[in-house]
Amino acid sequence: MVSPRPAVQSLPAYKPGRNPADLAREIGVERAVKLASNEVAFPPLPAVVEAVSRAVGETNRYPDNGAVVLTRALADRYGVDPAQVATGCGAVAICQELAQAYNDPGTSIAFAWRSFEMYPLLARIAGAGAVQVPLVPGSEGGAADTHDLEALAAAIDDTTRLVFVCNPNNPTGTAVRRAELEGFLDAVPAGTLVVLDEAYREFVTDPDVPDGVELMRGRPNVAVLRTFSKAWGLAGLRVGYLLAEDPAVADAVRRTHLPFSVGMVAQAAAVAALSSEDEVRRRCAAVTAERGRLTAALRDRGLEVAESQANFVWLPVAERTAELAAALEARAVITRPFAGEGIRVTVGTPEEDDVFLAALDDALAL
Ligand SMILES: Cc1ncc(COP(=O)(O)O)c(C=O)c1O
Repeated sequence: MVSPRPAVQSLPAYKPGRNPADLAREIGVERAVKLASNEVAFPPLPAVVEAVSRAVGETNRYPDNGAVVLTRALADRYGVDPAQVATGCGAVAICQELAQAYNDPGTSIAFAWRSFEMYPLLARIAGAGAVQVPLVPGSEGGAADTHDLEALAAAIDDTTRLVFVCNPNNPTGTAVRRAELEGFLDAVPAGTLVVLDEAYREFVTDPDVPDGVELMRGRPNVAVLRTFSKAWGLAGLRVGYLLAEDPAVADAVRRTHLPFSVGMVAQAAAVAALSSEDEVRRRCAAVTAERGRLTAALRDRGLEVAESQANFVWLPVAERTAELAAALEARAVITRPFAGEGIRVTVGTPEEDDVFLAALDDALAL
């Protein structure tokens, strides 16, 4: 029998979030609400719909593997050289490409835990060690929900090739502030690449949460990861990008890039989305206003909710997690539970969030 590598055999099977239409059918309701994947609820931007329709007519051809137009648009937007930019089939593909580019067996990747669930998996796939540094309470007596950057710096050793700092952190929504992050970057040895995973950057409202692109300037071992999946509304098309101070980092990502994995429709959509930045800003402002309302409503119910700088909120309900998520699902609301830890709830439309709050009241009254 042909066997996959032991590291692959031990990977957990991918568990996709529940499809709202399936759930609605199963429990006999007209519609279920999905607040599980941190997408935005708005339909695709009008400029994206138009660009996608146009690009579809060319799909008998391969896409531009260098994504030249998109790369140039991103370079212009951030005031960097195109050589400092790499695009990927979602930011998640770039995470994997980074691990392939920097991690030999015997090396390691360090990150906070809990954080983006792909980090430990891609370490395993690369045959690298995963150094997981526990989150700490962001408020006195609260749940562990915030990066401990001192401990993360202390966990770096000669084997550590990559460090992911997810800011704001998925799934807790908390963000590290400027002074702390600068201190951390100063402490990281030059031979370790720090990847600031800013998938949710566009939802940050606290001016003291630093923009990674500013922080990376002058720091050749820092790169920033962003995505079109969240604020820009292109989750279904799969485009992410990396910006690196040192062009060699972007080059390493391009070398490990799966050829043609950013399709031409996706590239055209991303370029069109960038041209709609004002509308994206308005949408993000609506999401962050709704985040404030949802957070207040949850706290009014006596629940602990960390201050989120992302488009989701975190309920650290610990051992009640599985039961509460199941009770919400029975009431047609799909959230993202992390067994034994908490539930991540994406900020939806005000109507969706009201359905969630009513379901929560009902479930908590049991
Ligand atoms: C922190 C973080 N990084 C990266 C990603 C990957 O995003 P995508 O592959 O859709 O660009 C996600 C998606 O949920 C995320 O939460």
